[in-house]
Amino acid sequence: MARIAVIGANGNIGRCIVTEALARGHEVTAVVRDLDRYQGLAIAVLPADVLDPEDVARVAAGQDVLVSAVGGGRLVAPAAHALVAGLRELGGDAPRLVVVGGAGSLLLRPGVRVWDAPGLPEPMRQTLHAHGEALAYLETVADLGWTVLSPAETLEAGERTGHYRTGTDHAVLDGEGRSRISIPDYAAALVDEIEQPRHLGERFTVGY
Ligand SMILES: NC(=O)c1ccc[n+]([C@@H]2O[C@H](COP(=O)([O-])OP(=O)(O)OC[C@H]3O[C@@H](n4cnc5c(N)ncnc54)[C@H](OP(=O)(O)O)[C@@H]3O)[C@@H](O)[C@H]2O)c1
Repeated sequence: MARIAVIGANGNIGRCIVTEALARGHEVTAVVRDLDRYQGLAIAVLPADVLDPEDVARVAAGQDVLVSAVGGGRLVAPAAHALVAGLRELGGDAPRLVVVGGAGSLLLRPGVRVWDAPGLPEPMRQTLHAHGEALAYLETVADLGWTVLSPAETLEAGERTGHYRTGTDHAVLDGEGRSRISIPDYAAALVDEIEQPRHLGERFTVGY
């Protein structure tokens, strides 16, 4: 059993991570901006702004793992800096950081990344690049335990099959050449990584 705090617990992906971790018997703290809007389960619910390192340190204290599932435009790059700054305040007691990343920087074939696809709406391209910026920053962090889990290109509602394949910098493609995963299977992969760390200090990805 691990003590896990999830920032962004009220989001589409954060909610599913909370559900998956609770179902496996972990002690989950939901971290949200607005306590009144949190409808889900958790052993505790705490307020925090991910952009405030003091908030991050407060909610991370005493946890084994801090998951960040925050989103919203370009927020994820400054969030990565604030998460690291907050965890550094805890020194050697800092929990491991597990970040919900983006698919944009995954390679589809040599030299071609998901964010190079023609016709991507500009806001989405910017969000994907913001995740790339956050990852590039985390890759400079050597004094904390961290992992980024990039979703497949298509991450959507669906069933929890419990089956998925992992990759590192290349998108995992299914038999039809598509990069896709359901949100419940993504959450299962993230909690699997919490339970059995295989990607400390790196990004990995999942797909069918
Ligand atoms: N294929 C892909 O690359 C892909 C696909 C989907 C998602 N993603 C990424 O996955 C992440 C989560 O996505 P989602 O669909 O779950 O997003 P979502 O439903 O919009 O949830 C985002 C959560 O972030 C929280 N948040 C925003 N600003 C915050 C702040 N300053 N402090 C604390 N919490 C804050 C929001 O809190 P409130 O509830 O208070 O608003 C919300 O609960 C995003 O970074 C997104 O880019 C990637």
